[in-house]
Amino acid sequence: MSWYYAEAGQQRGPVTDAELEDLVRAGTILSDTLIWREGMANWQPYGQVKGVATPPPAAAPMPEDAVVCSSCGKLFGRDDVIRYGDLWVCAACKPTFVQRIKEGVSVPGVLRKYSSDRVLTMSLMSGSHLEDFLARRPSQKLRNQLGAHLFELFYFQMLKLEAVHADPHWGNYLFNDDAGIGLVDFGCVKYFRPESIAYLRSVFLYPGDRDSLDFRRILEKHYQLAGEKLLPNARRALISFADNFYRKVYPPEPEKQHQPFDFGDAAFLQDYLRESKNLFRTKGVMREFIFMGRAEMGLYQTLHRLKARVHTSQIVKKHL
Ligand SMILES: Nc1ncnc2c1ncn2[C@@H]1O[C@H](COP(=O)(O)OP(=O)(O)O)[C@@H](O)[C@H]1O
Ligand SMILES: [Mg+2]
Repeated sequence: MSWYYAEAGQQRGPVTDAELEDLVRAGTILSDTLIWREGMANWQPYGQVKGVATPPPAAAPMPEDAVVCSSCGKLFGRDDVIRYGDLWVCAACKPTFVQRIKEGVSVPGVLRKYSSDRVLTMSLMSGSHLEDFLARRPSQKLRNQLGAHLFELFYFQMLKLEAVHADPHWGNYLFNDDAGIGLVDFGCVKYFRPESIAYLRSVFLYPGDRDSLDFRRILEKHYQLAGEKLLPNARRALISFADNFYRKVYPPEPEKQHQPFDFGDAAFLQDYLRESKNLFRTKGVMREFIFMGRAEMGLYQTLHRLKARVHTSQIVKKHL
């Protein structure tokens, strides 16, 4: 029997009967905690469903050295768990936990049994919306880890998948205290032509002068391949964008790369807005990149809200 319960306004679970009882003993679930399982019409307080008042944690003392595994919610002795920051993880949950941290981002699975050509049912992801997450005052370290995952997610999508989740609404990202990000809502995905990705690879960390003949040739070739003409104003705007925004956010110079980029300083957002307005005015933006710009703007705004410090160039380099 799978139970779900509410904690800090978030849905948690599924947990088994035994795990539910462990959570009660640990004091995570109290008699007024809302719980639900398949077959129940509504969420109800635990005390009502089970017909008993929850004993306060002190009434059911935990063994002195017992801790709760943050992944499965079961109780373990301290020797049987590993510590990750403030979290404890049991041996059984460790591989999945480590995998998640490594990848940083998870997406819901499709539940085909409950889906049709009109209804898409997906597994429930954990995590909070950005506002709620920030209200809990996460540490700088955690915000940096999340920032790195978000930044990597964008460049991994662009350069490896050649497609991007282009609905950057904050509701589509779920933030977790273990620095994992849940990505939902794939209603707007933009696929790119391989030539466009090849172009991005050549400009992202372009090492030389961006007002050079070589750089201009790269831009011109890209427009030519797409059957569009690059007018001088648009070319100037693209070079200015590359110099005054991208070069600052992820510098190509190795000596500048040991310092993380501080997204807490709003100056970079002003640079982005100024440069993108300038480019739009020249009508030189290729249609294909409008969605990339939208996703990019969402990414940068989120990184700014997180005040994350991220080793940006190293991440971009990894996916080139
Ligand atoms: N798989 C999921 N797991 C957990 N929460 C989800 C999941 N899918 C959607 N949500 C929650 O529902 C909200 C709306 O879902 P979403 O798919 O973004 O719909 P919309 O098209 O309305 O933006 C999200 O902000 C998120 O909080
Ligand atoms: Mg959405």
